[in-house]
Amino acid sequence: MKKEKKQPTLKEFLSYARPIIQTNEFKQLKKYIHHAKHTVYRHVLSVAYISYKMAINKKNIDMASLIKVALLHDYYLYDWHHKDHKRPHGYTHPHTAAENARRDFGLTAKEYKAIETHMWPLTLFHFPTSKIGWIICLADKRSAHYEYKIDRMIQKDIARLKKLKEKVKNK
Ligand SMILES: [Fe+2]
Ligand SMILES: [Fe+2]
Repeated sequence: MKKEKKQPTLKEFLSYARPIIQTNEFKQLKKYIHHAKHTVYRHVLSVAYISYKMAINKKNIDMASLIKVALLHDYYLYDWHHKDHKRPHGYTHPHTAAENARRDFGLTAKEYKAIETHMWPLTLFHFPTSKIGWIICLADKRSAHYEYKIDRMIQKDIARLKKLKEKVKNK
C-alpha cells in the first residue's frame, strides 16, 4: 500500500522556527533590504518555509537543523546596497552569514557548510555536500525568483494606476 504523503502545516513549521525567530538577534534582519523591496527577514522566512515543504516527505532530514540553516543562511547583518559597501556581496556574504550565525546561534560543521555554500553555482567549486545544503540552495533560488516576480507585478500595477490617474485628470 502506498504511504500517504504528509502535508505541511504552519503549526509544525513554527514549532521548528520559533526558537530562532523569537530572538532579538534574528529580528535584526527586519532592518535590511535584500531582493527587490523585500527585507532579509521576509526572504529567509520564505526560504525556510519552502525548504520545509521540500523536505517534509524526504527521509533522513533533520528538520530542526534544516529550518535553522534556512533562517540563518543570509544572516550577514549589513546593508549591501549602501554606497560604502565595496565587497562583492554575492560571493562573500555566505561566509559572513555562517560566521555570524555560528557566533550568535551555534552551528554544527554541517550547518556551517550548508550556509557557506548556499550561493552555488555562483561559488563554482564551493558546492553543498549535504541534503540540507542542497535544499536551502534550491529553496533560496526559488524564493528569490518569486520575490522579483512579485516586485515586477507591483511595479506594473503602480504604472497602470499612474496612467489611470492621468487619464482621469485629463478628462
Ligand atoms: Fe544569500
Ligand atoms: Fe537567500
